[in-house]
Amino acid sequence: MANRVSDHERHSEYLQAMGIQVWHQREPNESKQPEGLPHVAPAQPVEAPAQAGDDDWQTLVDEVAACTRCELSTTRTQTVFGVGDRSADWLIIGEAPGADEDRQGEPFVGRAGKLLNAMLFAAGLRREQVYIANILKCRPPGNRDPKAQEVVHCEAYLRRQVALIQPKIILAVGRIAAQNLLKSDARIGALRGQRFEYADTGIPVVATYHPAYLLRSPLEKRKSWSDLQLAMRILSQAGGGLET
Ligand code: URA
Repeated sequence: MANRVSDHERHSEYLQAMGIQVWHQREPNESKQPEGLPHVAPAQPVEAPAQAGDDDWQTLVDEVAACTRCELSTTRTQTVFGVGDRSADWLIIGEAPGADEDRQGEPFVGRAGKLLNAMLFAAGLRREQVYIANILKCRPPGNRDPKAQEVVHCEAYLRRQVALIQPKIILAVGRIAAQNLLKSDARIGALRGQRFEYADTGIPVVATYHPAYLLRSPLEKRKSWSDLQLAMRILSQAGGGLET
């Protein structure tokens, strides 16, 4: 109990970490706390268990590293496979590597990545406790949007990655991730805040704003917090979450 971080504290941490002013209850009757905050226990270190699918995982890693299915293979520094706990409950999927990620070989290591870490922290998760990947494994030059053919080529890798990880929830960050995972051309504002499923897997998907967008549009951060809460609720209803 002594260790339990209250939902209010966690929310404040999130807003602070995201660089926006923490709310203070100025009027006793004014209740602007988002509804239905789930109780989430503090993050526990996750032991890395022996991975049942090591061979398949390594096969996939090697295939991706050697991939020449599209022209991005000619401009990338390296492929960016993903990072984190291979048996995580949470799979975070972004768009594609940017310049920093292309250089370092790891997703979400730039400014947007720092904000993503803060969002995860607010949900009681450390970066190492989730798995982070992208729709594309290679950087589109100039950070242009992924082309349809590039997505199609990379999709097979992502599907195999999802099958190996078997996450309990997928958080799609940003329009490109959401539209491609959900096979929709709706705007991110229309896709966020709802429960979808990934392809035929039954794995729940929640879409939210991309942290790079949140850096430009800080007022939307509150909506992304509510999306995270939705994802936490879905996970705890499915019997997952940090208590287990
Ligand atoms: N933006 C993304 O969508 N993915 C990354 O890995 C980095 C920035």
